Amino acid sequence: MQVHLYDSSAQVGQAAAILIGAQLIGKPGSVLGLATGSTPIPTYRELIRMHRAGAVDFSSAVSFNLDEYCRLPEQHPCSYHYFMRNEFFNHVNFAPSNTHMPNGNAVDLLAECARYDQVIAKAGGIDLQLLGIGRNGHIGFNEPSDQFVYGCHVVKLTPSTIQANRRFFDTEADVPREAISLGIGSIISAKRIVLLATGYDKAQAVCRAIREDIDPATQASILRTHPDVIFLLDRAAASKL
Ligand code: PGA
Repeated sequence: MQVHLYDSSAQVGQAAAILIGAQLIGKPGSVLGLATGSTPIPTYRELIRMHRAGAVDFSSAVSFNLDEYCRLPEQHPCSYHYFMRNEFFNHVNFAPSNTHMPNGNAVDLLAECARYDQVIAKAGGIDLQLLGIGRNGHIGFNEPSDQFVYGCHVVKLTPSTIQANRRFFDTEADVPREAISLGIGSIISAKRIVLLATGYDKAQAVCRAIREDIDPATQASILRTHPDVIFLLDRAAASKL
């Protein structure tokens, strides 16, 4: 695996945007796996800037997001649908039909999980998967567990994740308790994986993922088995390595 260190979260975002831009120049119809959360925001801002400068074209790219809360309306400002429109899709030239997100409001959530995996497989799998990492080492919403779950699934969020995501909601009680997440199998099947981590509150998870045993208690540790994984870290996130 490659680990690259940067002085600031803005530089991490620039580095990730350059990797994504290069991916699209090499293969304009690339399938991108996209992430939400605070960490990728500088990446999306830089990609928007590059797009406006004519350096990145998303017109034939395809995207699949990692996850979405269950039973939160798509129009809710905390939904990941809303986040992606607001932070990224509305500012670049993806064809709307090429951007995919799990439907956390599907009547049959298990059928929705199966459908989402099928659409990804039909698109040929993910070329480049962008990831953040939770303070508990989760990737997507694959929470600490005694196993790695292969396929897309419905997840019960842990108290640590509910607490971490509470900052986006009015009260902790408003944070959804369940989400749909891509499974570890789909993530690890991506041809290239780029994980971003910034800030001291990620240092422990980054250290466990890179230095300790491959263990589902730290879901990100599975990434070490992947032949093309790049961690882009600021100095704070790397401070326990
Ligand atoms: P964050 O979330 O970027 O908001 O810290 C990352 C994650 O939980 O994967």
